[in-house]
Amino acid sequence: TGLITLDLGYKNTGATISEITYLDGDQGELFYRGYPIEQIAEKSNFTEVMYLLLHGELPTTDQFNTFNGNIKKYNFVAEEMKKIIDAFPRSAHPMGVLSTLTSALTAFNPKAVNVQSKEEMDLAAELLIAKFAHLAAWTYRKTLGLPLNHGDNNLNYVENFYKMAFRLPNEDFEINPVVTQALDKLLILHADHEQNCSTSTVRMVGSAHTGLFASVSAGISALWGPLHGGANQAVIEMLELIEKDGGDVNKWVAKAKDKNDSFRLMGFGHRVYKNFDPRAKIIKKAADDLLAALGIEDKALDIAMQLEKVALEDEYFIERKLYPNVDFYSGIIYRALGIPTEMFTVMFALGRLPGWIAQWKEMRLKGDPIGRPRQIYQGAQLRDYVDISKR
Ligand code: CMC
Repeated sequence: TGLITLDLGYKNTGATISEITYLDGDQGELFYRGYPIEQIAEKSNFTEVMYLLLHGELPTTDQFNTFNGNIKKYNFVAEEMKKIIDAFPRSAHPMGVLSTLTSALTAFNPKAVNVQSKEEMDLAAELLIAKFAHLAAWTYRKTLGLPLNHGDNNLNYVENFYKMAFRLPNEDFEINPVVTQALDKLLILHADHEQNCSTSTVRMVGSAHTGLFASVSAGISALWGPLHGGANQAVIEMLELIEKDGGDVNKWVAKAKDKNDSFRLMGFGHRVYKNFDPRAKIIKKAADDLLAALGIEDKALDIAMQLEKVALEDEYFIERKLYPNVDFYSGIIYRALGIPTEMFTVMFALGRLPGWIAQWKEMRLKGDPIGRPRQIYQGAQLRDYVDISKR
């Protein structure tokens, strides 16, 4: 009761008080726990960033070693989980499989479900991080019908994931630092982004005191959509379509502006950034560097750069403050690393995992109330039930 404020899409509603990520959409600034994303992307590594987001401070060497050791220690995934994967058709989208498997972890780790203390939450977090790299890798093995690899504890988290997903079990794996460092950087850039759609979903589900695994599973489903994480797959598909169509970027920019055409320029625009997305700047440079280092020429990158140029000079995009977002160039990097298109959003999920967990933990520790938005009702007025024979 009382006055209800309508805010479709929560464009102007703060749902919580957080200490994790600061974002200024007008200045194009993004800080994790106070550290600017530019410094973190250049100097840190994904495992350290996971620790930072979860615990609020950069780890000391001892803290890092304990955290890293626990992630290696807990990476066992129950054999029965493989049967769940077996039951999917090979054509299943990896994001659907990942969401299912993450929720299924609940059944195999019951002690990590109804957690109350900070210590129990940290253990649930480490269990999930440790197992998630396997699950993410396995979703891809499934699409190829290949054996499900187990990890190699001599490798770091990102290298281990890469090997499990993209190499055969006995294949010699020589780490190409150019590849694993580019991947590490991408995961860092995706690690948290305050109250975005999937994170809000994780918090909303978790606000009912649902366990971490089920809450994150819901977040994965939210991330899957093309307006959110699914945009990285949609961007590459769009660039390929434009290329196939003759490469006339002006034609596609005109389509994106046409209000009678549902086509949107994927990888453009953002709910909060009304200036450049700082992650996009870092990723564009990383894409340039990576292609040069690997000696790859990618037509999609040329088309992306032409599209960006035309759109940024166009009144429609200028007026609406639409700039390339994080996903505009990330797909180019994934492609150069040999990662197939349908795995792009899984890569995003792997990156966003520590953000989801940190936000879930913060919400529970602060005792935020259950999420329950109100509505403005505009349906039928009071009326009497009519028997089916009289309708
Ligand atoms: N192409 C063409 N027009 C656009 C685009 C676009 N990509 N994005 C927004 N607009 C227009 C939109 O039609 C509207 O125009 P008008 O005022 O004339 O009705 C105006 O710009 C404002 O857009 P909106 O849809 O009201 O903005 P929003 O904050 O609700 O949506 C968005 C943000 C990211 C969903 C949207 O920009 C979009 O659909 N972009 C393409 C998909 C994409 O790249 N998503 C990834 C986002 S970043 C990573 C992540 O979240 O996972």
